[in-house]
Amino acid sequence: MAMPRPAAQPTTGETKTMSRDSLTITDNRTGKTYELPITNGTIRAMDLRQIKADPGDFGMMSYDPAFTNTALCHSKITFIDGDKGVLQYRGYPIEELAERSSYLETAYLLLNGELPSKAQLEEWTYHVTQHTFIHESIKKFLDGFHYDAHPMGMMISAIGALSTFYADAKDIFNEASRRKQTWRLIGKMPTLAAFAYRHSLGMPYAYPDNDLSYPANFLNMLFKTTEAKYRANPVLERALDILFILHADHEQNCSANAMRCVGSSQVDPYSATAAATAALYGPLHGGANEEVLRMLLDIGSVSNVPAYIKRVKGGEKRLMGFGHRIYKNYDPRARIIKRMADEVFEVMGRNPLLNIALEVERIALEDDYFVTRKLYPNVDFYTGLIYQSMGFPVTMFPVLFAIPRTSGWIAQWQEMLLDAEQKIARPRQIYMGAAKRSYVPIEQRS
Ligand code: ACO
Repeated sequence: MAMPRPAAQPTTGETKTMSRDSLTITDNRTGKTYELPITNGTIRAMDLRQIKADPGDFGMMSYDPAFTNTALCHSKITFIDGDKGVLQYRGYPIEELAERSSYLETAYLLLNGELPSKAQLEEWTYHVTQHTFIHESIKKFLDGFHYDAHPMGMMISAIGALSTFYADAKDIFNEASRRKQTWRLIGKMPTLAAFAYRHSLGMPYAYPDNDLSYPANFLNMLFKTTEAKYRANPVLERALDILFILHADHEQNCSANAMRCVGSSQVDPYSATAAATAALYGPLHGGANEEVLRMLLDIGSVSNVPAYIKRVKGGEKRLMGFGHRIYKNYDPRARIIKRMADEVFEVMGRNPLLNIALEVERIALEDDYFVTRKLYPNVDFYTGLIYQSMGFPVTMFPVLFAIPRTSGWIAQWQEMLLDAEQKIARPRQIYMGAAKRSYVPIEQRS
C-alpha cells in the first residue's frame, strides 16, 4: 500500500528550498514552476494534471503508448531486473525455485506471499487436486469445436465458459470464494488443455488421475492410451514441473496486464483469465514459442542460418524467441531451459532443430545488430524444442505456457482487487480526429 503523500504545489516561479525527493517542472508556456513529489523513483501522472496553459485547460497528461515507462501498480509478487537478468518470485531467485521447488509450491508462494509449511502444502495440493475434473457439459462444449481448432482458441472459450458453471465466482470480494475459484482454475487448466489436445487427435478424453502429481496427471491426460495406470517418465515429469515454475509469473506483462485490466471491471476471475489467455495467445507474447519452432523449420539447416539472420537485419523478419521489453540481458529462464533441454533429449532423443537454434544463438550473440539492441534469447527460444521432443504439436506450446501462468494471473488479479488505490482501468487518449461537423445526407456527399 502506498504511503500518504503531500499534494503537488505550484510555486509560481518563486525560488524555494527543494526537498530532495521531488521534481521541479517549469512550464515554459506560463512560466509557472511546479514541484512534484517523487515516491519510489516515480511521479504520479495525476500530479501533472495541475499544469495548465490557462484555467480552462484540461491539464497535462503523459503520453505512453504500450506503457513503456508507466508503472501501473505497486506489486509484491515478482521482481525483475532486466539489465542484470534477475527474476525473483516473492524474493526467491528463479534458479533456486527451479532447482528445489515444485510448481504447486511455487503457485502457493505467488498467491500467498510465503512458502507453505508442510501441512499448508498438503492442504493446498489436496484442494487443487480435488478440482481437476471438469463438468461433463464442458466436455460436450469442447466436442463442438472443429477437429483442427487451435487449442488456445478452445482454451479461451472453455475458460470463459467456466464462469457460467460457477455463479459464486462473481463474489470476488469474498476471500473464501476467491480461494475456491483459484483451486478450480489451477486444477482445471491442465484438464482443459489435455482435452483440447485429445479432441484434435479424435482420441477419447483421459480423465484426471488424482493419485498423480500435477505434471504427471497432465501427462496422463495427454498421453494415456490403453494402460490401466499411466506412469510418467520421472525425467519428463520433473522437466514439465520446472517449465511450469519458470512460466508461473512475470510481473506486468501483456497477459498479466489483461488480467488486471479486465479484472478491474470486477468481472469474475474466469472471464478475466479467458482475456489473459487471449493476450498470451499472440505471437509477440506466449505464441512466440510456437513461432520459434516454425522459424527453425523454415530456416531448415545450419547452413541457412546466416542468410536468415541477414533477412532479420534487413527488417524482413523478426528473430522469434529473441528480445524482450524488460530483459536487456540473457533471460534467466532461457538459461535454465537450455540446460534442461539436454536432460529431456537424453530420454527422448536429440531434437534435430537444436543445432539450428544453437547456430542462430551463436551468430546473433556476436552480431552487432543484436548486440547493440540488447537482443538475447528469451524464455521461448528453447522451450519449443523441448515441447516438441516431449511429443507436443506446436499448437500446444502456448497452452503449455497458459497452464502455469494461471497462478501468476490470479496472484496479480487478487493483488489488484485488494489494492485500495486501484479502480477500473481506463487510460486517456489524445484525440487527433475531425473537429465537430454536421451530418451530411448521403446524396450530398462527394
Ligand atoms: N528480431 C529482430 N529485431 C528485433 C527483435 C527480434 N526478435 N526484437 C526487437 N528487435 C529490434 C526492433 O526492430 C527495434 O529495432 P530498431 O530500434 O532498429 O527499430 C529494436 O530491436 C527494439 O525493438 P522493439 O520492438 O521496440 O522492442 P519491444 O520492447 O517493443 O519488443 C518484443 C519486445 C515484442 C518481445 C520483441 O523483442 C519481439 O517481437 N520479439 C520476438 C517475439 C518474441 O520472442 N516474443 C516473446 C517475448 S517473451 C514472452 O512474452 C514470454
